[in-house]
Amino acid sequence: MTAMSITASLLDLVAIALFILGLHLLNAPPTARLGNRLAAVGMFIALVMVLVQTAGVGWWAIAIGTILGALIGVVAALRVKMTAMPQMVALYNGAGGGAAAAIGVVEYYVFVNSGAGALDPIVSVSLVLSMIIGAVSIAGSIIAFLKLQEVMTGRPITYPGQQVVNAFIALAIVALGVWFIASAGTLPAWGFLILLAAALALGVLFVLPIGGADMPVVISLLNSFTGLAVAITGFEINSVLLIICGALVGASGTILTVDMGKAMNRPLTNVLFGAFGSGGGSEPAAGSGGPQNVRSVNADDVAIMLAYASKVMFVPGYGMAVAQAQHSVKALADQLEKRGVRVFYAIHPVAGRMPGHMNVLLAEANVPYEQLLDLDAANAEMPTTDVALVIGANDVTNPAARNVPSSPIYGMPILDVDKSANVIVLKRSMRSGFAGIDNPLYEMPNTAMLFGDAKASVDGLTAAVKAL
Ligand code: TAP
Repeated sequence: MTAMSITASLLDLVAIALFILGLHLLNAPPTARLGNRLAAVGMFIALVMVLVQTAGVGWWAIAIGTILGALIGVVAALRVKMTAMPQMVALYNGAGGGAAAAIGVVEYYVFVNSGAGALDPIVSVSLVLSMIIGAVSIAGSIIAFLKLQEVMTGRPITYPGQQVVNAFIALAIVALGVWFIASAGTLPAWGFLILLAAALALGVLFVLPIGGADMPVVISLLNSFTGLAVAITGFEINSVLLIICGALVGASGTILTVDMGKAMNRPLTNVLFGAFGSGGGSEPAAGSGGPQNVRSVNADDVAIMLAYASKVMFVPGYGMAVAQAQHSVKALADQLEKRGVRVFYAIHPVAGRMPGHMNVLLAEANVPYEQLLDLDAANAEMPTTDVALVIGANDVTNPAARNVPSSPIYGMPILDVDKSANVIVLKRSMRSGFAGIDNPLYEMPNTAMLFGDAKASVDGLTAAVKAL
């Protein structure tokens, strides 16, 4: 071993340690920023090591790619709206899968032109697997991006025989993949190209029938595919760094997919084949024509209720993110606390449109972390809560999930706001939430609606509380 290769291995180890530590620190909001920075330092070390290890060959191409990629990443990260984060994650994740697939294609091309008789078995297995999984991931991620960006319909696209077509393509991929491995990479180029095209087609076709609330789950699943493809690429090009990084991404993506499925009470098979959301999504509530008997209140009435309460539970949802009301919410909480009211925030694991959406927004507004209660802790407090102030949340408070077996969200754990003494719902209209279904909460005797944009309503409440 030369001094150079020992240094390279040590620096790889430092980068890997930084990735693992960074991931661990993402566990809690107060340490998440540091975790992100440590992982970025790890990535920088990894990039420099690639440049050094290639010993100058094609360094300018790598440097140009790195600078361009970094510029695009920085500009996109600075400009992206919080509500558009899921599609940004989809795109970046797709890029990782695309890179793994591209490495497979390049390796095949180099092998064909090298005149070598056969590929090493480990390389042929890893090359074909990483190319297939990476191609499925990039094609699927692009469709997920287009759906979430509303460039194409976000609803499930279904047609007769869809699963048969998908199964047929999957079988063709398996057959061509086995041929590639059995022939040690010497199958004709047309076979390899059909294999690549079939994997890309499968990526597109398997995401088309998924829609609505299931999209972030599928993005997380594609994320784990990318991790797997990258880890297998590590075997292909003999890089321990890639194997470990890919395994980290693959494992965390899988854990997130399972957790999201649990929080929405949707088994993965249901997400992939259930075509959820074909009937709704931010439309006027379907079924009964929407709740009829709702009680509307004004800010002054609500302010009195809040100011004289002893415990208030804020229940934020997607509408708070749309209205960017988090700073206003914190200002209202401060006013109430000055009057001796105890304030908590009930955080549902899938409130908003991405994991941790509410935590990120409230952390941005400097809400003390101890005031954020998870689902179980919040529900334990509900029966002793005087006012549950629902700020742009809908599906995550829908009691139909608890007691209407025919509801599409039946079985999903919800925040039991209806068990508190008073419920005030801040939203703009009687339109439904993401799931596109009625919310019987709005007709309950202890519920009243404060209509309007969440930020304007909360600011109005703060002013009214101050004036008391
Ligand atoms: P939703 O059920 O989507 O309800 C949001 C409500 O906010 C809407 O009813 C809307 O009513 C209101 N709203 C929108 N803009 C507003 C504004 N500017 N001011 C005031 N209100 C506004 O949200 P949720 O309760 O947070 O539930 C999240 C949903 O997304 C669930 O169905 C969940 O399964 C799904 N989902 C979440 C995730 C993750 S990981 N978070 C992933 C996939 C799916 P108006 O239009 O009447 O104002």
